[in-house]
Amino acid sequence: MSPEGQLTESTWEHVQQAPPDPIIGVTDAWRADPDPRKLNLGVGAYRTEEGKPYVLKAVREAEQQILADPAMNKEYLPISGNPEFNRLARTLALGPSSPAILQNRVATVQALSGTGALRVGAEFLSTHLPSAFPRIVYLPSPTWGNHKSIFAKAGFQVREYRYFCAATRGLDFAGMVADLKAAPPGSVLLLHACAHNPTGVDPSPEQWKQLLKVTTEGQLIPFFDMAYQGFASGDLDADAASVRLFVDAGLELVLGQSFAKNMGLYGERAGALSVVCKSKEVATRVESQLKLVIRPMYSNPPMHGAAIAARVMGDPKLNALWKEELRGMADRIKLMRQVLYDQLVARNVPGDWSFVLKQIGMFSFTGMTRPQCELLVSKWHVHLTLDGRISMAGLSATTAPYLAEAIADVMKSA
Ligand SMILES: Cc1ncc(COP(=O)(O)O)c(C=O)c1O
Repeated sequence: MSPEGQLTESTWEHVQQAPPDPIIGVTDAWRADPDPRKLNLGVGAYRTEEGKPYVLKAVREAEQQILADPAMNKEYLPISGNPEFNRLARTLALGPSSPAILQNRVATVQALSGTGALRVGAEFLSTHLPSAFPRIVYLPSPTWGNHKSIFAKAGFQVREYRYFCAATRGLDFAGMVADLKAAPPGSVLLLHACAHNPTGVDPSPEQWKQLLKVTTEGQLIPFFDMAYQGFASGDLDADAASVRLFVDAGLELVLGQSFAKNMGLYGERAGALSVVCKSKEVATRVESQLKLVIRPMYSNPPMHGAAIAARVMGDPKLNALWKEELRGMADRIKLMRQVLYDQLVARNVPGDWSFVLKQIGMFSFTGMTRPQCELLVSKWHVHLTLDGRISMAGLSATTAPYLAEAIADVMKSA
């Protein structure tokens, strides 16, 4: 203390510099890179063929309608968010003829995009799972980097199940099933509904059926993370098949939805958390408890993104336009897979690269080693996460040959 009673040192002098976020840090490094050839293949955000962010026409049109609407105001939303958005979001995920929807037994709250849905869902489970159930969550190995921290913050013990097979660059289904069979009953099982991040590898429809059986027999609590509905196949219904399979079989489950990718609403933080329950009465009580989770966290969610998404989902014309644009985005990503594959083959890059074509959604998990990835960054200015994941959405027909050239080089030298 100084004579004036002031602290001479900062109260936070002992605070250590935290490491950069492995994904957001890639964009920071890309921004700081002065090389004109630089590529950002780290962040999972769609880019146009010109490498620019894309605001969907349906979103622009919905926004204009909202601005012109004299009934629009800036009052607080309810704790659970925009009710119309919630209704449309759960219907989009489960389908209008879902037994759970028809029987009004889904509790839905608006969430701060997919991350917020996971965080509120994890907190709810940690508080309200029966006391005899363990607080254990099973995550695929590998998974989206944030899953571990989200569930750990909510008090869960985090365990992994085998998912990716490095040799085939496909699914280690036998390993997955064996690990899930060994999980204590009542454990939470996190499943990526489609377009698994980071691997781009999804179970087949037949494998999903077997996973349903393993989940039911093992009395696991499914938590579906659906951040990419529509991005895998271009079709919203097809991409929701896994969740619908489980709901239609009568299971109770938790579902997180994000409109960041499929509506390009990244920064608007529009998402939803649904808890599918056995009865309407339980769903009503669950919703009341979800509100108790939300209130001390952030009181109530932001209105703009949810208002846009509700219009885009609810207005038939905007809905049709959205679906067209969504298919366009998914198709462009698929085309980039083909272009990259062709370029790699044309350069005789060693190994079987057909997994680039087989993997689904925004990412390709290349199996490149950390030193190879580091060389891609330092020598070629190709910015990516060091686990070898590349965002196909960040590629274009002009940049794909450059990437293939870079990969060919690092495969030889690192
Ligand atoms: C698997 C997965 N879940 C959830 C999210 C959360 O995204 P957001 O919070 O932006 O909706 C992401 C984003 O990359 C993701 O890949």
